[in-house]
Amino acid sequence: MNYGIQTNAHGKPGNNMFGNVFNNKKVLVTGNTGFKGTWLTQWLRQLGAEVVGISISVPTNPSMFETLNLRNDIEHYDLDINELERLKEIFVAHKPDFVFHLAAQPIVRQSYIDPVETFRTNTLGTAHVMEALRALENECIATMITSDKCYENVEWNWGYRETDRLGGKDPYSASKGAAELVIHSYIHSFFNTTNTNIKIASVRAGNVIGGGDWAASRIVPDTVKSWANEEPVEIRSPRATRPWQHVLEPLSGYLRCAQVLATDGSNNGEAYNFGPDANQNKSVLELLTKLSDHWPFKSDSEKVVVQEQSNFHEAGLLKLSCDKALADLSWQPTLEFDQTIEFTASWYYKYYNEQDSDIIEYTNQQIAEYCEQARLKNASWMA
Ligand SMILES: NC(=O)c1ccc[n+]([C@@H]2O[C@H](COP(=O)([O-])OP(=O)(O)OC[C@H]3O[C@@H](n4cnc5c(N)ncnc54)[C@H](O)[C@@H]3O)[C@@H](O)[C@H]2O)c1
Repeated sequence: MNYGIQTNAHGKPGNNMFGNVFNNKKVLVTGNTGFKGTWLTQWLRQLGAEVVGISISVPTNPSMFETLNLRNDIEHYDLDINELERLKEIFVAHKPDFVFHLAAQPIVRQSYIDPVETFRTNTLGTAHVMEALRALENECIATMITSDKCYENVEWNWGYRETDRLGGKDPYSASKGAAELVIHSYIHSFFNTTNTNIKIASVRAGNVIGGGDWAASRIVPDTVKSWANEEPVEIRSPRATRPWQHVLEPLSGYLRCAQVLATDGSNNGEAYNFGPDANQNKSVLELLTKLSDHWPFKSDSEKVVVQEQSNFHEAGLLKLSCDKALADLSWQPTLEFDQTIEFTASWYYKYYNEQDSDIIEYTNQQIAEYCEQARLKNASWMA
């Protein structure tokens, strides 16, 4: 991929994005060892932030966190967010300017295996992060990451708005709906005055894809693991349709939301959806077919095997309306579906097939390329 963009001496994109609000700021990221947390950490470092991470463990092997060697570049704590007193101590000691809360048990299938642990981390853990914020005396902007699954999915064809009813049939979805209630209860009970030192928003996005995800029971990681072993991937629901988006898309929304909280604060206490354009709703089979165009198969053997449906409930298509993010934050998605696929496939291709390539540099280049694409679309945060 030829990036052809302006970079600084370290090969990173210029630092004028997001109004420069993260430059030289301390940013605490929970769930920093996970898929989204790792990409966010790398982007924040490019933006000049000093990142402090809190995670219970590294969730996968391989992992993008280990691949990028981030343990050496940030202050990292191995901690369960349910250890409230220690969590508060770390918050108070670091006095973060920004917090991004991503730590969660994020897999629907796992939530059926251990629902209590899912509620403990996703709902009670979120209350603990709110308590840790309450312990701060410094000014802090907090962005709380939940999910599109926080909405009661009534299987309709139009996008859910931030005012739609929260819910969720499976334990994961319910734990995220409940996390939203916790967040907004704390906002109204403790952070609702005009002179609060803590400004908060909750942010809701759906299925993300991109290089560096190796979580179990997710379609793209399952696929690249199989294809890397020269085996076909087994899928359950070829026609299931999801609003796929690249991981950098919601992250740009989270960062933009935090920027607006930090600069005019008019969005304090609000919730925002971040999703792709409706034309990115594609079936699993369409997704894998496109992905396979970028994978160097040595033979014409089968790429995909369709298995019998499993019997656990998985919701149908759930779309988000992102009109509020556009109105309040001037945020819009950047990548087309084909670009999303190309970004994703090329990262994994480098990882699996070019052993001596510099994957850290390549990750930085993908962030730079994403920013360039956003600039071409006049993204508000690139101004
Ligand atoms: N990946 C997606 O498609 C997607 C979609 C919607 C929402 N989300 C949400 O985005 C966030 C990040 O998701 P992800 O895909 O990066 O997940 P991930 O599994 O890759 O990472 C989860 C992170 O949370 C940490 N964690 C888990 N339990 C913890 C605990 N008790 N204490 C401290 N840390 C803990 C893990 O160590 C890891 O760092 C989650 O809140 C998830 O629900 C993800």
